[in-house]
Amino acid sequence: MKGAYRTMADGLELDEYIAQMKDQVIAWRHHLHANPELSFEEEKTSQYVFEQLQAIGGLELSRPTRTSVVARLVGPHPGKVLAIRADMDALPITEESGVEFASQSPGVMHACGHDGHTAMLLGTVKLLVALRDRLHGEVRFFFQHAEELLPGGAQEMVKAGVMTDVDNIIGIHLRSMLPTGKLRVGAGAMSAASDKFYLTIHGKGGHAAYPHQTIDSIAIATQVVTNLQMIVSRNVDPLKSVVLSVTRFVAGTATNIIPGSVEIWGTVRLLDPTLREVVPPLLERVIKGVTAAHGATYDLRYEFGYLPVVNDADIAATVQSALVDAFGEDAIEPAQPSLGGEDFSAFLAEKPGTFFYLGGANPAEAEHFPHHHPKFRIDDEALPLGVKAFAAATFRLLGSA
Ligand code: NI
Repeated sequence: MKGAYRTMADGLELDEYIAQMKDQVIAWRHHLHANPELSFEEEKTSQYVFEQLQAIGGLELSRPTRTSVVARLVGPHPGKVLAIRADMDALPITEESGVEFASQSPGVMHACGHDGHTAMLLGTVKLLVALRDRLHGEVRFFFQHAEELLPGGAQEMVKAGVMTDVDNIIGIHLRSMLPTGKLRVGAGAMSAASDKFYLTIHGKGGHAAYPHQTIDSIAIATQVVTNLQMIVSRNVDPLKSVVLSVTRFVAGTATNIIPGSVEIWGTVRLLDPTLREVVPPLLERVIKGVTAAHGATYDLRYEFGYLPVVNDADIAATVQSALVDAFGEDAIEPAQPSLGGEDFSAFLAEKPGTFFYLGGANPAEAEHFPHHHPKFRIDDEALPLGVKAFAAATFRLLGSA
């Protein structure tokens, strides 16, 4: 009914409920942050989430894969099925954020905000369970494992059947450089296809004093790295967004030995999936040409990663209207595509949906660090806003009694 809905939409009741649970949502996040687990290893994390969901009650819980959790909340009125997704995994980074609830697992850190996503979704569950009488249709809460590592947890969950009967799906990513409370939403591409390559250049090792008796894998590999930059700068349409980054270069053991081989890893990011037919052959052509020119050989493995996240125009517009009503026009900015990778695309390959961004940069802090940085921080004040955004979008997409 319109009257009740208007009460929801003006945010007052949502704000009251959320204010009551804010401390709990922050406590969830702090626990998750202090106990990070790597992709596909989210044993304690998923158990913790499962237990919190059991404590909330009123849900049908399942474990579609070993370290993921799905909670179903069926409303009393007929309607569509909306899925809401949060990822739960951390990264192999040694934390230097300085927060009181820093990682207790050496070398593992929640440096992308997935702890916040999980806490926000738990808060959304609690809120929607409390407001169940108003709910049309069904909400499925996806607590997803392994966003950070191919083949990605989303694809595994899809294979396990979680999208069966789901009509639409939404998800949020916190942003550490966007001020707390700002939201970015829009139609179209939001993230890039993120492919990886693993290359070994084989030369011939030997004494550093007698380079003529070797095939210097390091000298050749540096030329390969330099020449790979030509692909983006000279071979791809400048109006198309492509990134090619070499991220690992490993060789050698001593100052007097020319190593026999060099290992090079890197990533290719692109928004237009058709460029996946263009860039990998160019990459191999450069590697083949440079190594052949100097008598070296190579092994190359090119791995296609996640698809780009492409938001459905209708769902994005509906979510945007809900966010404008809940947060005001000033809080909303148009979304721009990023060349980050995000496996939410595996869900969007099944059903239309929308992925959007919520700022988590505390304006009182002098410096903000990017995602995957050891000093990465997310403002706790963003968490209740995430709950509100999920709830506002849910009621707008499913309708409200
Ligand atoms: Ni992330």
